[in-house]
Formats: sequence, structure tokens, C-alpha cells
Amino acid sequence: MLTEPMPSGTVLVTGGLGFVGRTLTALLRERGETVVVTDVAAPAAVPAADRGSYRQADLRDPEQARAVVAGADLVYHLAGNPSGTLSVRRPLLDFGINAQGTANVCAAAAETGVRRLVYLSTAMVYGRPLVVPMPETHPTTPFLPYGASKLAGEHVVRSFGETFGLETVIGRAFTLYGPGEDPRTAGGEVSQYLRWHLNGLPVRAVGDADRKTRDFTHVHDLVRALRVLAADGVPGEAYNLGTGVECSLRRLAETIAVATGRPVDLVEDTGISEDTYRHVPDVTKLRALGFTPATSLNAGISALAGHLGPAPELPSVPTIFKPGQPVAS
Ligand SMILES: NC(=O)c1ccc[n+]([C@@H]2O[C@H](COP(=O)([O-])OP(=O)(O)OC[C@H]3O[C@@H](n4cnc5c(N)ncnc54)[C@H](O)[C@@H]3O)[C@@H](O)[C@H]2O)c1
Repeated sequence: MLTEPMPSGTVLVTGGLGFVGRTLTALLRERGETVVVTDVAAPAAVPAADRGSYRQADLRDPEQARAVVAGADLVYHLAGNPSGTLSVRRPLLDFGINAQGTANVCAAAAETGVRRLVYLSTAMVYGRPLVVPMPETHPTTPFLPYGASKLAGEHVVRSFGETFGLETVIGRAFTLYGPGEDPRTAGGEVSQYLRWHLNGLPVRAVGDADRKTRDFTHVHDLVRALRVLAADGVPGEAYNLGTGVECSLRRLAETIAVATGRPVDLVEDTGISEDTYRHVPDVTKLRALGFTPATSLNAGISALAGHLGPAPELPSVPTIFKPGQPVAS
């Protein structure tokens, strides 16, 4: 575990052992950046070769947050609960890391002279779309505790920028997919559908598969976009992070069928309709920074199917919006 001061110009990735964090860390290292990873897991969870640049911290604790943030030049703050379902089951746990943890990281960053902080937020801060595609100026009226805790994090980030001169940029991710999602905690449709289908099981769609649309964004594109925000994002601004391509759940199932060469048995559960809506970003602002996505849905799904293999671990996170709701998976 790292104990010495960080070299100047060090980039700190919080939540660096997670799905997005691992992918971002790999990209940053590939580009020659000096990266320190922090996460709540014990160092034993980190490959031996990477332990020298790993710092364990529970960011819900302000002292631990300060100890790991001190000395960093740039912070990508990704640590958090990414699950709406977990936020319904354990809302205070969700607020503890997403809201309080973000406040601890911002306070530490402001106190220790961090130059810039990029905060990974979520499209769930918008709530139900009033217009499609949604621009960043869309009202923020989240309906899940998860969206509320991430929005609280956004307000903290922005206010620390205004008050303490920390440069802060916010990215709002839509629906992510790619290698490295943990099926025991992640609820994204691409991973779930592929895992069921590759095991020869029906694919269970929550909601109306034609009316429900998403912007499925490959995690490699997401982390490229985060780097663009770090380099060129305007302080105080929020940016939608997506491809701008709208895809229905049915179209997703058809794409999986093409990628695997087998028809998908799609079963719709229209009894759960809380998030049956078109959920796609207006990405004009991100594009204006020079970002273009590099991975098409067809290519991303084919590659992921190959990566998962013939019988991947099945997803185990149901989609729920209220306590006690019958689960669709
Ligand atoms: N995965 C998605 O589809 C998605 C979509 C939109 C936004 N996001 C946001 O992206 C971020 C990363 O998501 P992810 O999919 O990589 O999730 P993940 O669960 O794979 O990774 C999150 C990481 O944060 C760490 N963490 C949790 N609590 C912590 C604590 N108290 N102290 C320190 N570290 C802690 C976890 O150990 C984990 O490694 C989250 O903030 C999430 O809100 C994710």
C-alpha cells in the first residue's frame, strides 16, 4: 500500500476497483499518466503488481478521505453506489457514500489544493424525461433515492467549486455496458440480457420493450469522455455522457441475436412501468468538446459476448422501484 507523498501531477481515481474505475485506470496508465487508485476494499483485493499505487479508504469517513486525496492534482470521483435497487433497499447506505462521501472528497480536495475534480454522476438525476433527447438544462427531479443522492453529490461538487475555487466538472452517464461489470451488483440491461441469453434462458425485459429506449454507452467510450472532461470540460458545468443513439429494448435483444447467431426469447414484464420511457441524452455539449464515441452497439455487444463466453455467471440483481415490489428477475 502507498504511504509516501504522491508525485506531482498524480491522478487519483476513487472507486478505482469498480467497473468504470478499472477501465478508466487502465486507459490513464496506457496514456502514461501517474495514477493512484483508492477504494474501500482491502489491498488483498488488488493484484500484487498494483498494490504500490493503491490506497484503501472508506470515503464516508472525512479523515480517511483527506488522507487519500492529499497530494493529488486531478481527482476522478467515481466511488459510489451505482444501483437504484440498492438505494431502494438501503437508502441511507446510498446517501452515505453518494452524498456524504462526495462531500468528504470535495472538502479534502479543496483543503489539500487539488486542481480539478471530475465527478461521475448519472442520468437518473433528471427523473422522468419531459423532452427527448434530454439536454443538461432538463429539470432535475429524481424519483429514486439513487438519483437524489447523486444529485446531492452534484450540488456539493458545484458549490465547492464556487466557494473554494476547486475546478469541478460533472459528467452524467446514461446506460453503461462492457467487460468488467459485476453481475452480483450491476443491473444494466446489456449485461443482464447477454448473460441470460448465453445461458440459454429467456431474456426478461422490465417494462414495454418497444417504448422503453436507452442510450447504451460502452464503458471504453465513457472513460474516454471522462478524460475529455478532465482536459477541456468547463468548470462548474455538467455534461451528458452518451453516444446520442437511441435504442429500444427490443432492438437491443435483436442486436444480441445477431451477435450470438441465435434468436432471443424476449419476455416482457409490463407490470413494472416506472421507467418505461425514452431515456436518451442530447450530447451536443459533449460533442462540442471534440468527443465522438468509437464503439458501435453491434461491435460492443459482439465483443462482450465473446468476452463473457458460453455460460457466464447469471445476473442476480432484480430491478425494483419500491420496497416489496414483485421482482422481474
Ligand atoms: N454503471 C453504470 O451503469 C453507471 C451509470 C451512471 C453512473 N454511474 C456512476 O459511476 C460510478 C461508478 O459506477 P460503477 O458501475 O463503476 O460501480 P461499481 O460498484 O463497479 O464501482 C464503485 C466503486 O466504489 C467503491 N466504493 C463504494 N463505497 C465506497 C466507500 N464508502 N469508500 C470508497 N469506495 C467505495 C466500490 O468498492 C466500487 O469499487 C458510480 O458513482 C455511479 O453512480 C454508473
